[in-house]
Amino acid sequence: QYMKEITGLEKIEQQLKEKFNLQKVIVVPGNSDEERRVKQELGKACVSFLKKVVQDHMVIAVTGGSTMSLVAETMTPLNKKDCLFVPSRGGLGEQVENQANTICAEIAKKANGEYRLLYVPDPISEKAYQSIIEEPAVQEISNYIQNADIVLHGIGDAVTMAKRRKTPDEQIQKIKESNGVGEAFGYYFDKQGQIVHKVRTVGLQMEDLKNMEHVIAVAGGASKADAMESYFKNGQSNVLITDEAAARLLTASY
Ligand code: F6P
Repeated sequence: QYMKEITGLEKIEQQLKEKFNLQKVIVVPGNSDEERRVKQELGKACVSFLKKVVQDHMVIAVTGGSTMSLVAETMTPLNKKDCLFVPSRGGLGEQVENQANTICAEIAKKANGEYRLLYVPDPISEKAYQSIIEEPAVQEISNYIQNADIVLHGIGDAVTMAKRRKTPDEQIQKIKESNGVGEAFGYYFDKQGQIVHKVRTVGLQMEDLKNMEHVIAVAGGASKADAMESYFKNGQSNVLITDEAAARLLTASY
């Protein structure tokens, strides 16, 4: 508390809350682009916030990415009954350590919760996709995901994410041409927050977020400021956990 007053972070938290119309913003000192320690602090802040809101029998969906993997690293037992963790979407082309499935299993184990995973080949043809979503096992887990109580998710730069996922060149081109800036949940957004591209996979869809109690975005680093701005134009998240570098850029006009 004392530290925050000194650094003026509380003021920025308030400004961000107003700017993006959020219920809660937490800003940790530093720039996670430069120091892993700062990304770990994002993880810790996310874990402590989660502990405040989670209740018995809740379903918690988590996305992939390096920020989420540090949420997993810092997770500790939630001391709640029957909490179920699920990955938010099927494979999005991330490497194993950054995949939602991997992170979901680790978070659940450390939280002493249950988990269910979603196996979807990636990339997948339209035909295979249409038959996979008919599978009862896939439908069952999709149901959990789409009705989750809490979602923990990352936000990334559009082109960085498209490349990291080995997206085919023509799709990267399409994202660039339509001025894609930010990415979350496999959706790519332009500066106005319009969806310019979407990865076809099962699980959470943007419209599902409207019904969820706590949608918690965890993203920091100066390099993500524009991406975050684009996501929050139309974003359905109500909580943001970020760092000082991103927060200062996002509130520069205040
Ligand atoms: O691919 C999963 C994901 O959560 C993306 O939606 C997001 O853009 C990205 O990871 C964030 O990754 P990182 O935390 O490594 O920047």
